[in-house]
Amino acid sequence: MIGIAIDGPSGAGKSTIAKALAARFGFIYVDAGALYRTVGLFMCRAGISTEDTEGFIKNLDKIKVEFRYAAGEQRMYLCGEDVTGEIRTPLISKYASVVSAVPKVRAFLLEMQKNIAKTNNVIMDGRDIGTVILPQAQVKIFLTASAEARAARRVAQLAEKGEIVSYEEIFASICERDARDSGRDVAPLKAADDAVLLDTSAMTLEEAIAAAEKIVKEKLEME
Ligand code: DC
Repeated sequence: MIGIAIDGPSGAGKSTIAKALAARFGFIYVDAGALYRTVGLFMCRAGISTEDTEGFIKNLDKIKVEFRYAAGEQRMYLCGEDVTGEIRTPLISKYASVVSAVPKVRAFLLEMQKNIAKTNNVIMDGRDIGTVILPQAQVKIFLTASAEARAARRVAQLAEKGEIVSYEEIFASICERDARDSGRDVAPLKAADDAVLLDTSAMTLEEAIAAAEKIVKEKLEME
């Protein structure tokens, strides 16, 4: 099986680029962050505070996380309920980030991620795909962009949807998440030694996709 790992901070364009590559190469796309978001949603609904690590651990055995594919899209299920839309809110981003710093939560989601790559050609995006989940991946890309570029893109994306938000607020929340995701003890956000670094700060989306595609082709020795 072939594995492509794309890691990097939030807002670097990992999922957009990974989806484009998955379609281009016919691989299954796995969004690892969605698994942490689904666990985070459960904790949020259960009224557990973002500080309550013990509460997260105690509730893990009540959670059933699954992902299924419909029309080529990954959909997330929490105890049988489709929560694909609900996990994309700022509050759940925060919950996902805090639950993902807890080793028992990471262990809970580990096998599921490894298993899918055993039986499928996959392109997975996350924070520790190249280092922990698929250390054997044939292609590893560490996708990054400056916090300023990521914040500006996010503001533009939201504006397209009609949501007007302040750049300063988005910038601050990106910096806060970066610090938490990189500073944690377990599986911190960090490039694998054999990852190719791709900084998209000064690239358009099309340029970033083309650059990522070139890396994949070179690594897989394709024409
Ligand atoms: O990629 P995302 O923003 O949807 O991820 C949500 C959170 O999940 C992010 O703050 C960090 C965590 N995460 C992780 O710890 N490890 C991964 N492989 C993917 C995501």
